[in-house]
Amino acid sequence: MINVQEINKAAELLAQGDVVGLPTETVYGLAASIVSEKGIKKIFSVKERPFFDPLIVHVATSEQLDSVIAEKNEALDCLTKSFWPGPLTFVVPKNEKLNSLITSGLTTVGVRMPDHPVALKLIEKAGPLAAPSANKFGKTSPTTAAHVRQEFSNVLVLEGGSSQVGIESTILGITKSKEGFDLILHRPGVTTLAQIERALKAWDLKYRWLERDSKEVETPGQVKHHYMPKVPLIVVDEKYRMSDLHQLIQKKIEGKFNRIQELDLPHEGHLAARLLYAELRKQAESGADALVYYYNPIRFVSDEWKGIADRLTRAATLILDWNV
Ligand code: TXA
Ligand code: MG
Repeated sequence: MINVQEINKAAELLAQGDVVGLPTETVYGLAASIVSEKGIKKIFSVKERPFFDPLIVHVATSEQLDSVIAEKNEALDCLTKSFWPGPLTFVVPKNEKLNSLITSGLTTVGVRMPDHPVALKLIEKAGPLAAPSANKFGKTSPTTAAHVRQEFSNVLVLEGGSSQVGIESTILGITKSKEGFDLILHRPGVTTLAQIERALKAWDLKYRWLERDSKEVETPGQVKHHYMPKVPLIVVDEKYRMSDLHQLIQKKIEGKFNRIQELDLPHEGHLAARLLYAELRKQAESGADALVYYYNPIRFVSDEWKGIADRLTRAATLILDWNV
């Protein structure tokens, strides 16, 4: 999988302030060097992403982690040892030298070590990389190099196969407090809260969960309409499976829906996550006017499915009977 020449070429482009398509185990990223302001600005312009949406920094070594954060703490030590490389991003106080364009002016930085040999090789060579998912702002994330090339024809994309996790990393905020550690789940993913708690308990660390502050600026990763396919997605409680869907949606959304395509996902969470974005893209391009996903309300709130349910509901134009 590792093509040294391609990696050298990518490192050269990054050093010149260009962006590169980066395979990771979650989704493909659009990467720039954290020390190139030109490259960082290019990420935002190529993606048509607003500057208030902070980027995640990707590192390959613990020295690189040290260089982007303010200081280490025991919870970070414990969780990096337990879950890195892997699909878990930490939001922690940033190193003051880190370019604030990356963090959208926040005092914290999102940082993770991806579990992908090509990404790790490139980061070892080129240094830490800022990388959002490699899709136009608000659209479905890419899980293959071909997805990225379709959207950004002028960008070098490193080949890394299909992303094995399939949805973006879990994002966890960590703040040291008097009693222990305050944790905030900024975005659910395949690394679950139960796994995080188990790791902290094994290290005898005290923690409590805090709600995300609703006054906090809503970054687009958190806004409702994100990950959207080319045609409307309607997410419907499976108890309506036998009903006339046209009738159900006609009153709610405009347009003619002659061909509604059903999105089918495996019940097992890891498999569903892996297939989600590729299926959304494929079905949206199949000539359908709309997609429908019938959800099982019990599965949808399970720990395993939390990240998938989050993406499906944000990608949806209409949700029928959500939260019953
Ligand atoms: O799996 C992933 O995390 C992928 C791959 C490429 O690594 N990256 C990814 O990046 O999903 P992106 O840009 O699509 O999502 C980044 C989100 C932001 O929208 C924001 O919600 C959150 O990460 N974020 C980043 N820095 C943050 C910070 N300092 N405070 C709060 N949220 C932050
Ligand atoms: Mg994204």
